[in-house]
Order: sequence, then structure tokens, then C-alpha cells
Amino acid sequence: MVNVAILGFGTVGSGVAEVIHKNGQHISERVSNQIALKYILDIRDFPESIFAGQIVHDFSVIEQDPTVGVVVETIGGATIALDYTRRALMAGKSVVTSNKELVATHGYELMQLAREKNVSYLFEASVGGGIPILKPIRTCLAANELSEITGILNGTTNYILTRMIRAGLSFEEALREAQANGYAERNPAADIEGHDACRKICILASLAFGRQISPDQVPTEGITSITLADVEYAKSAGMKIKLLGRAIRREADGKVCAYVAPHLVPDESPLANVEGVFNAISVVGDAIGDVMFYGQGAGKLPTASAVVGDVMDAAKHMCYLKSNCWEAGGPEVVFSQEEVASAWYARVAGEEPVEGARKLSAAQGEPGESAWLIEGALRPAEVRARLAGREVKNLYRVLG
Ligand code: HSE
Repeated sequence: MVNVAILGFGTVGSGVAEVIHKNGQHISERVSNQIALKYILDIRDFPESIFAGQIVHDFSVIEQDPTVGVVVETIGGATIALDYTRRALMAGKSVVTSNKELVATHGYELMQLAREKNVSYLFEASVGGGIPILKPIRTCLAANELSEITGILNGTTNYILTRMIRAGLSFEEALREAQANGYAERNPAADIEGHDACRKICILASLAFGRQISPDQVPTEGITSITLADVEYAKSAGMKIKLLGRAIRREADGKVCAYVAPHLVPDESPLANVEGVFNAISVVGDAIGDVMFYGQGAGKLPTASAVVGDVMDAAKHMCYLKSNCWEAGGPEVVFSQEEVASAWYARVAGEEPVEGARKLSAAQGEPGESAWLIEGALRPAEVRARLAGREVKNLYRVLG
């Protein structure tokens, strides 16, 4: 028997309880061990819930119960969640989480602690919701030297952009819809300003390239300044605007550049056709070539699916290290996106031609503005030089 405790009975935590309850027999058969939900920690009571009897308010009840083998942390953030995760690992319990902020900022430390205690620290649900991505990178693609990861990593922003592209909604209208559908984080700034995608690309890059990449090393731009005019200009160029997280490993020295920013993606790219709340992650390896992972990147049950998969993995390997792993980070691990060349999209004030650029058209373009596709492979400093003296409204890379 493996007893499980869930920390935080919010969207994901309640989804985890639901999946364990609904599929309990099948889950226990698969791991050849009885998986039982013993506690749910929350500050609230849920008298109407079928799980009311499992609710506790004091973490030390879980910490001190030797029959609890796996703790599921779905509190979020990096304060209480960090404290409870450390204490659970110290108490010799495996921890499973969907908390990308905690993994992106303290992943290395927590994996080290799990290693010392010979337990698992698993976080498949922290990236791509229900999409299996971390375990495939760690196991199925382990023979590859990976060179690049590019992903649509945030369901809320992809939903907003899809509604702007498909239905002509303004950014604000599309955000309200995403919130009404329960996709957005409690504070939508984490989604729309790119921080959520930043945390996810940190986790992917750390796992793929073997050293901790932290959010403060990842330049991050969100989608708040994208207008319907940008959407239409992109369409006239045969492209769609997508918020991408990218991590590129430079072969010469093994350094990594990771960043999050809106991109223009050609319609023929599979990433251009990832719509709504779906996520997709493309991974490039020297043996596999280009492989793409696609699925529901947010939502209660898709995320719970990934969490419970990790619970089963931890339960199968009790008292045996099963954690993801990477080494400590540092400034020497990364190189700047200023060194990455690409083609560019620019929306600027005025109509004067931009050197080496094709003018784009849009019905919704603002008078007195123009938009340009600057072809070739230019570093940011080179493109800024071409636009010198112009007021730049938006400047985005084109995915090559
Ligand atoms: N708010 C996140 C998203 C949830 O929209 O992708 C999953 O991390």
C-alpha cells in the first residue's frame, strides 16, 4: 500500500484526487501496489466534497505519518510550496508536482535533496500539462545530443492569439474568454507577460542540456502589445503570431540561449497550426532529427493525468531514486540572444522603406504606420541599425 497526500485542493489538486478516485483500481493494478489517497492539505474545508474526510489543515500530520510515501504538491508558488517540498523530501517521501515556478527556480536544490534521501522528485506536469515531454526527453531521447527546443508552452496565450486570429477578437476580449474558461493562471500576468512560458523553457532547457537555467537568465516578452493589426500583417505574409519559448545549444562551446517572445511562424510550420489551449514542443536531436509533442497544455484533468503518472512512477520505485536530474547552473552556462540571427517582423511609425524588407498590408493597420518583413539572418543589433531613427511599435523574430 502506498499512501498519497495532496497539498492544495485547487484545480490541479482536485483533479488528481478525482483521477485517483475514478481510476484507482486500474492505477493500483498497473503498479502492483494499492495506491490510496490518505490526506488532502488545504486551509479550507470542503464539507460537500466526497474527499471531505481526507482534508487536513496541518502539514506536520503528513510529514510525520510514516505511511505516506508520495506527496503531491499542487500549491503553486515558491514559498510555502518550497518549505513543504523540502520537509517532505527530508522526511523520506517522494514528491510529485505540477509547480513550474518551484522547479524552474529551485529544481536543482530539490533534486539534490531527493538524491540524498534516495526518493523521487518528479514534475512531468510542470511543462505541457498532460503532454508527456520530460520523461521522453530523459529516457526515450537520452541517446541524442539535443540542439534545440521550441515550444508553444502556454495554453492561455495560445488560446488568446487563436481567438484574435480566428475570430478577430481584441486582446482584452480574448483574455476575458480565456479567464471565463478557467485557462488563465489566478494572476493572468504570469501567462500574458510570458513568465509561465519562461519557467517551462527553463525546465526543458535544464533537462535537455544538463545544467540549471534560471528564469533570470531568460529574456521574456509576453503578448500584451500584440494588436489585431499585427495579426493581419502576419496573415498577409502567410504567417501566424505565436508566443514561443526557445532554447538553443551552441555546438562550439555547449552554451545555451533561452528566451520567450512572440514570433511570426510560417503557416506551413506545424507550430502555426497548434490552436486554442493546445501546446506543442519541438525537440531537435542529432539522431532523432525533429520530433514534436502535442496535446492539452492546461486544464484540470490533463494536468492531473501527468501528475498521477508520476505518482505511479514514484510508487513503483519506492526507496529508489527516480528523479529527473541536471547539474548546478551559473553565468557560464548561457549565451545571449543578441547572438542569435533570424529574419524579423517590424511595425513602425511612418511609411519610409526599410532596407532589405518587404512591406506588408493589413486592413486594420493604423494610419501613419507600416509593417515590414526583414528577410535574411540578422542579429538584433543589425536589425535595430536598419530601423534606426524609426519609432518601433513591435519587433518580432520570424521562425526560420
Ligand atoms: N496557465 C497555464 C497555461 C496553465 O495557460 O498554460 C498550465 O501551466
